[in-house]
Amino acid sequence: MTAKTAAIRNRLWIGNEWADAEGGRTFATVNPATEETIAQVAEGDAADIDRAVAAARAAFRDDAWRRINPHERARLLWKLADLVDANADELGLLETRDNGKPYLEARHADVPIAAQVFRYYAGLADKVQGDTIPVPGPFLNYTLREPVGVVGAIVPWNFPLTLAAWKVAPALACGNTVVLKPAEQTPLTALRLGELAAEAGLPPGVLNVVPGFGETAGAALVRHAGVDTITFTGSTEVGRIIMREAAETLKKVSLELGGKSPNIVFADADLDVAVQGASMGVFYGKGEVCAAGSRILVERAVHDEFLDALKGLAAEARVGDPMAPTTRLGAIVSGEQLDRVMGYVEAGRRDGANLVAGGERVKVKGRGNFVTATVFSDVDPTMTIAREEIFGPVAAVIPFDDVDDAVAKANDSLYGLAAGVWTRDIGKAHRLAAEIEAGTVWVNTYHQSAPGSPFGGYKESGFGRDLGFQSALEKYTHLKSVWVALDR
Ligand code: NAI
Ligand code: MG
Repeated sequence: MTAKTAAIRNRLWIGNEWADAEGGRTFATVNPATEETIAQVAEGDAADIDRAVAAARAAFRDDAWRRINPHERARLLWKLADLVDANADELGLLETRDNGKPYLEARHADVPIAAQVFRYYAGLADKVQGDTIPVPGPFLNYTLREPVGVVGAIVPWNFPLTLAAWKVAPALACGNTVVLKPAEQTPLTALRLGELAAEAGLPPGVLNVVPGFGETAGAALVRHAGVDTITFTGSTEVGRIIMREAAETLKKVSLELGGKSPNIVFADADLDVAVQGASMGVFYGKGEVCAAGSRILVERAVHDEFLDALKGLAAEARVGDPMAPTTRLGAIVSGEQLDRVMGYVEAGRRDGANLVAGGERVKVKGRGNFVTATVFSDVDPTMTIAREEIFGPVAAVIPFDDVDDAVAKANDSLYGLAAGVWTRDIGKAHRLAAEIEAGTVWVNTYHQSAPGSPFGGYKESGFGRDLGFQSALEKYTHLKSVWVALDR
């Protein structure tokens, strides 16, 4: 394993320059595996958001970006993708230290996925086009796809670089400028991304990065009259606040929020494959994944056999130093998040679910925020652990009787982000894919993702889609209709 050192960028990135926060304040970003402070980071506030929005607005108006040849815009995004790849060891290390996830995941999933997203949207940059529309009368009617303007992107701490790319890449491809507000737990890769964007040749102000807290920097971005749209990934609770706050300036918003995704195992599935998929679905990324398959619905006929196998995999999911290649579960992102997860383990016990694996808070080399892979069986769908997003490696196993029962239980949730279905029956698979209320359905697989495939929620998992081609145009462009009289 090549773990090199990483230079820490810890100031605000505005107009392609480093700056201190106007108030001079900083906050600590902490390595959750060691509980050590990695760096003090400039703490952006409303005044800094104001500066960043002004830089983004100026860049949006400037010919260097507004009138750029679209092929050149594509080339810059492609170059940024190459720079992300070229700096993958460093970015992976920064992500691991900030978030606590295994270096193997950060380096070989998060970072290359981010690069690939920039590459995909480089391909959109010169295809932002409208239509001509047949209309009655002597008129020519056509549509223009125009950038929305200044995009405020607020991202969480679970996939800091990847989710930043999900938002920044399509926004830039469509000709917008961006103010990115990373999560206070994990600001480091976003800051490095800002610097790499400048190295790729993006003009000053096109991508600005302002670390800070949600209630201050994030809220200021949402309220700012100079921001045209907010694209957010995070909790449903904050999603509601953002929607309310954005009403004041009638901002367009898109929200990718929480989930309590069902992963449904039928008796006719390849059980070995299904149990592997269920384990990966809930434990990957320490379960700090919005699409985590945290409700595992199992057909009664195979329930006991499945549960035994899942217990075995949970016991094998090694908790450890995120830098060690054998580690499957790294550190939970913060002490606060670990407390939240442990609170749910307590709630599961109290409500009478059966704790069959894990549920232990542990230290690695005497420190850090770790928890073992946890499985509850005999979970009733009304229990808190079956209803609320835990955002930790905690599986709730729930038996079901037949297809109708599976669909009913799967849809019995305020959330609708994703779902998995494991079956060898192709008819059943397609029926479930159609009847489940979720933005993504995986059949005999889980956590698959590609830049071209849209991702987002139904119900209280939000609205708007990240990734995809058409969804990016819908989110990051205005559609203008132009009428031209032909007879005068
Ligand atoms: P959060 O929703 O508070 O944080 C996400 C982002 O929103 C961060 O950048 C934060 O600074 C920002 N933010 C917070 N309050 C804001 C406000 N009033 N205005 C504008 N921006 C604001 O999530 P948090 O507190 O870190 O985690 C709490 C729970 O949320 C987790 O346990 C999990 O259930 C859920 N969550 C879901 C995520 C997802 O991917 N859907 C990601 C992170 C958290
Ligand atoms: Mg919060």
